[in-house]
Amino acid sequence: MNTKEAEKTKVLVINGPNLNLLGTREPEVYGSQTLVDVQQQLISLSQPYNLEVDFVQSNAEAELIEAIHEARNAVDFIIINPAAYAHTSIALRDALAAVSIPFFEVHISNIYRREKFRHFSYLADIASATLSGFGTYGYSLAMLAIINQLPRN
Ligand code: DQA
Repeated sequence: MNTKEAEKTKVLVINGPNLNLLGTREPEVYGSQTLVDVQQQLISLSQPYNLEVDFVQSNAEAELIEAIHEARNAVDFIIINPAAYAHTSIALRDALAAVSIPFFEVHISNIYRREKFRHFSYLADIASATLSGFGTYGYSLAMLAIINQLPRN
C-alpha cells in the first residue's frame, strides 16, 4: 500500500494596503465582512481538498514584494488583492512576473464602475484572471478556479 500522501497544492492569499480595515472601511463600497471573515471562508472552502492556504496582508509595498519573492518555488497559486497598488505599482507587477506563479487578481469593488484612475491595473494583463465587483465572494471565486484546476484521482 502506498502510504505516501499526495503533496498539497499551496495557495498564498495576499492582501494589500488598507484591506486590514475591511468591514469598517467604506462599507458601502467594500461590504461588512472583515478580512478574518474572508480568510475563514477560504479555509472552509479549501478544507475538502488537498490544499494548504496561507495569508499575508501588508500596507507596505516592499513587504508585499518580499512575500511574493518568498513564494518562489514554494507556492503553486497566488490570489492577490493588490488594492491601490494595482493602479500604481510596476514593482509589484515585476515581482509577480519574476516568480512565474499563476495568480488571480481580486478587487472587491467593480473598479471599472469607479474613478477613472482605478480602471487601469498593472497586474491585469499578466494575471490568470481578474475578479472585480463580486464583493468579497471574488476571493472564493478565485479559490474555486484553483480547485477546478487540481488533479483529480
Ligand atoms: C480594491 C480597489 C482599489 O481601487 C482600491 O484602492 C482598494 C481596494 C478593491 O478590492 O475593490 O484598496 O482593490
